Amino acid sequence: MPLARSLSVTSLSGLEDGDEEFDLEDAVLFEIAWEVANKVGGIYTVIQTKARLTSEEWGENYFLVGPYVESNVRTQVELIEATNPILKRTIEKMNSSGCKVYFGRWLIEGSPYVILIDVAFTAWSLDRWKSELWELCDIGVPWFDREANDAVLFGFLTAWLLGEFAAQCEEPPHIVAHFHEWLAGLGLVLCRQRQLPIGTIFTTHATLLGRYLCAGNVDFYNNLSEFNVDKEAGDRQIYHRYCLERAAAHCAHVFTTVSQITAIEAEHLLKRKPDIVTPNGLNVKKFSAMHEFQNLHAQSKNRIQEFIRGHFYGHLDFNLDKCLFLFIAGRYEFSNKGADIFLEALARLNYLLRVNHSDVTVIAFFIMPARTNNFNVETLKGQAVRKQLWDTAHTVKERFGKKLYESLLVGQLPDVSKMLDKEDFTIMKRAIFATQRQCQPPVCTHNMLEDSSDPILNSVRRIGLFNSSADRVKVIIFHPEFLSSTSPLLPMDYEEFVRGCHLGVFPSYYEPWGYTPAECTVMGIPSISTNLSGFGCFMEEHIAEPSAYGIYILDRRFRGVDESCNQLTSFLFQFCKQSRRQRIIQRNRTERLSDLLDWRYLGRYYIAARHMALAKAFPDTYVYEPQEHTSTTGFRYPRPASVPPSPALSRHSSPHHSEAEENDDDEHYDEDLEAEKDRVNIRQPFKNRSVPGVNG
Ligand code: UDP
Ligand code: G6P
Ligand code: GLC
Repeated sequence: MPLARSLSVTSLSGLEDGDEEFDLEDAVLFEIAWEVANKVGGIYTVIQTKARLTSEEWGENYFLVGPYVESNVRTQVELIEATNPILKRTIEKMNSSGCKVYFGRWLIEGSPYVILIDVAFTAWSLDRWKSELWELCDIGVPWFDREANDAVLFGFLTAWLLGEFAAQCEEPPHIVAHFHEWLAGLGLVLCRQRQLPIGTIFTTHATLLGRYLCAGNVDFYNNLSEFNVDKEAGDRQIYHRYCLERAAAHCAHVFTTVSQITAIEAEHLLKRKPDIVTPNGLNVKKFSAMHEFQNLHAQSKNRIQEFIRGHFYGHLDFNLDKCLFLFIAGRYEFSNKGADIFLEALARLNYLLRVNHSDVTVIAFFIMPARTNNFNVETLKGQAVRKQLWDTAHTVKERFGKKLYESLLVGQLPDVSKMLDKEDFTIMKRAIFATQRQCQPPVCTHNMLEDSSDPILNSVRRIGLFNSSADRVKVIIFHPEFLSSTSPLLPMDYEEFVRGCHLGVFPSYYEPWGYTPAECTVMGIPSISTNLSGFGCFMEEHIAEPSAYGIYILDRRFRGVDESCNQLTSFLFQFCKQSRRQRIIQRNRTERLSDLLDWRYLGRYYIAARHMALAKAFPDTYVYEPQEHTSTTGFRYPRPASVPPSPALSRHSSPHHSEAEENDDDEHYDEDLEAEKDRVNIRQPFKNRSVPGVNG
């Protein structure tokens, strides 16, 4: 028997901890997901951000497998010939048997190889494969479920790819195949059924049943152990999907979920306890200048302000400098994502701001894709009017400058009363007349296809927040499309937009992880999440006082909806009461948590999962040794030494603060000197710590 290689997770590249005890040279990693080079939601973010670290570890032996979607390929993938000869033969063989499989480099950090499969091209096999599925595991997929049909095609095609690859290898290969989410799960089931020599991992980013049950207003977390899962899945017409998901979870050598809360959910609903929890990370950008991210906030905020100027033309009766930009973003799951209680809390906040005579105006954005037929005219007109006013001001300025110049040329100081003439006034009056508006600024930027039944619009109608001048929470801008820098309306990509906002609000009821608040954190933007989201629980576990760092965690677990809504309102109201200086300090603290969410640390859980799979599939070659004392549990970011718990007190941390200094751009520097003390404690949170072992 060959000497088994010992896999110890402390020893991996990118983790700086040193002693490498094994090599993966002959092992090959396939990572399979429907969201490879295909953005739908957070799974795309997992794969895309993790690619750099995984490529560093696996080099030329790392292949991502996803669906071929032409529009995505055109913008994100460079198609090339497969460089690996075995893979080249595999793809050629499949393509000569009626498939369309592409190979390329995904143009993201790490430039990983991608294998993209055109599932529609092989749709002629669907019926045959469905009968095979029925024969094998009694799972019947109805003809009308398009997503499930795609899952069947994708599953059979990925299993074909992996089987062919294994067959083409001369030496017995050491393959790890990591499948994400139910849509990719069938490939795993087939690999096991065909007894392919592959170590398999299944990661679920949410359970189907959990998502459906929560969306249906069920008291989910108090009844987790009570659900009759087959019946519940059947009642919701997702029994076949549920079976695919459960089969994948049970067939996998290693089963993982993205958070502890989803691990418990999976144990009850999928009936398997995950072997490892693999929390989601991000690639944290390190700026050379400490305050670069603050400058980026100011730049992006200016651009959002420009948008607001246009959107509000004719009704700009509030001080833009005292405006706070709040936002919620993600897939459009109205109650799962907490858009319902956010709207209710905004209504309550509006009341509080009014009775307290606050001069703050809150602008709330909802970035959630829904079905539309493009931007609405009124919204586009707003930006056109703003542009026209800008051009007018520019024209008058030019004319003014010319007169000034001519006066100076003849050695005279200008007569100020003659600098603007009648024509200038006519131009300006015409421009002002064009800004007159009979209607309120719209609450939605697009023409919605289901306007009358749309849950956000219906809530706005119910709570009556229509941007009237009396309201302090004046605007709810529903942008039912993901943001893009090529948009004619708000030409910013999502990252730029987040940087320009003041607070991300994500009061989810169902959220296995929740990338949106994590992304806010690494950009130094405070956020609200909940103790029912993977992210919120993770932060609660690792930070002694999350709110001191701008991480507000709403209690949705032990409180009723109305109470949670009151707590949310109170978070929002407290936030609105902060001065600019306090916000700047808070952003600095938030950004200091970035390391906690960096793949450089969190990547080790994935590494552990792969090693466990190798050891289970190839026990003669690999041994997985879970480390003693390996859990990160118990580690906590301390309360920052420089930080009074309440931001209200923090103004005294600077000896020379006064209200007049509110606009002082440099005022955060002294705070950061103090904060240097904290840094010593909290940098590299997981250094010298290794990974939780089985059932970590
Ligand atoms: N997102 C985006 N563009 C937008 C709004 C959101 O790319 O305009 C991304 C965001 O960066 C995040 C993902 O959508 O990575 C949402 O992931 P999350 O885990 O929060 O929720 P999911 O939609 O997967 O449930
Ligand atoms: C950053 C910039 C400052 C700016 C501030 C505005 O910190 O560096 O120049 O004054 O943002 O903060 P606010 O919270 O009011 O958008
Ligand atoms: C799912 C979950 C989300 C998670 C994402 C990535 O879409 O809904 O909470 O962040 O997957 O794991």
